Amino acid sequence: MCRTMLYNMVVLFVILLNSYVARASDPDPVQDFCIATTESANHAKQCKNSSLVTVEDFVYAGIKVPGKFGPTGLSGVSVNSNVFPGLNTLGMSLVRADFEVGGVNVPHLHPRATEIAFVLEGTIYSGFVDTNNKVFAKVIEKGEVMVFPRGLVHFQMNVGDTPATILGSFDSQNPGSQRIPAAIFGSGIKEKLLEKAFGLSSKEISKLKKKLSPH
Ligand SMILES: *[C@@H]1O[C@H](CO)[C@@H](O)[C@H](O)[C@H]1NC(C)=O
Repeated sequence: MCRTMLYNMVVLFVILLNSYVARASDPDPVQDFCIATTESANHAKQCKNSSLVTVEDFVYAGIKVPGKFGPTGLSGVSVNSNVFPGLNTLGMSLVRADFEVGGVNVPHLHPRATEIAFVLEGTIYSGFVDTNNKVFAKVIEKGEVMVFPRGLVHFQMNVGDTPATILGSFDSQNPGSQRIPAAIFGSGIKEKLLEKAFGLSSKEISKLKKKLSPH
């Protein structure tokens, strides 16, 4: 009797857990596809008239070559629903990241997606930090993948002596990205707060703010 109750409770718990997990990702589509019209790409509301949809709506070539490299030696090309409306409602997206020798993808997180990163070329020191501040990091090689659980801070650095390329895949059409250095020091948080939070002088904070503020 008691065992049956326990069993029922476990089943209920598993069902609840599953529905929680299902709600945690992008919603399921209610039609074959919904090519977001340009004006609604960010709000994912209106679909392009399906009789006007062509194969070109499902193809995106903007990931063929690396983009512009930033000061840390990284180029990231996002293929999300904002740039590729064909992804709208489909619950997935990609990013191509190219690294110069020694290039760094600074600690960052994606609030809406887990990422799995596949090394196309090169040797990458790659890792993430969990909510106990435990780091899980190692050097991964061409052909290997690493998964970064949703919302956790992760980072990469090209530790090989040739350029490197990875392809990251997300379980959201719009995973979002928060780069920690810019989010903290480039966002206009009061200096006094940052001084206390990091135990740095106002001069040191100013230097970081200057470096990381958007120009
Ligand atoms: C979609 O486009 C077709 C062809 O141009 C047109 O006949 C139809 O009325 C349109 N449907 C809507 C809902 O606008």
